[in-house]
Amino acid sequence: MINIKKISAEDTYAIRLEVLRENIPLPYKFNGDFDENTFHLGAFSNNKLIAVSSFMSMSKTEFKGLQYQLRGMATLQSFHGKGAGKLMVKKAVELLKANSIDVLWCNAREVAVPFYLKQGFTVVGELFDIEFVGPHYVMKKELK
Ligand SMILES: CC(C)(COP(=O)(O)OP(=O)(O)OC[C@H]1O[C@@H](n2cnc3c(N)ncnc32)[C@H](O)[C@@H]1OP(=O)(O)O)[C@@H](O)C(=O)NCCC(=O)NCCS
Repeated sequence: MINIKKISAEDTYAIRLEVLRENIPLPYKFNGDFDENTFHLGAFSNNKLIAVSSFMSMSKTEFKGLQYQLRGMATLQSFHGKGAGKLMVKKAVELLKANSIDVLWCNAREVAVPFYLKQGFTVVGELFDIEFVGPHYVMKKELK
């Protein structure tokens, strides 16, 4: 059984580092981690933190309405495919809808696109490169 809870920015760091920053010389601490409107979610299995994600108030001009960006979505390798990512997105959507947010978007690694499609995101625009990380698509989920 996996439980989703709010966690602190610092709680996300170890899993961000392990899952998202192996051989990638980019910061695992993000601008916005401590902003007032930012929140972080953790997925717990038997009280062990197995996945993290962060949600920040961040707008793109091409989208309308109130927007949040999903960042730092990461599940420990040995827990992939057990529903942690899905449950974190579900919980975030509940929280964001309760705050009248219109759009949740992210820069999705190309390899993660099928995961986001399953969570109701759609691809927006062309493939682009993020240095050191590789090809990405902007993806968005309308919350209304
Ligand atoms: C992408 C990631 C966060 C998904 O987390 P997860 O906890 O394994 O995802 P879930 O178990 O909730 O998967 C939900 C669904 O998506 C599917 N899925 C997950 N990752 C997938 C992938 N890479 N390709 C295809 N399907 C995928 C699962 O099979 C599952 O399908 P189901 O609902 O039909 O059973 C995880 O694979 C990961 O940490 N990857 C490495 C880091 C990364 O790429 N992060 C995203 C950066 S944008």
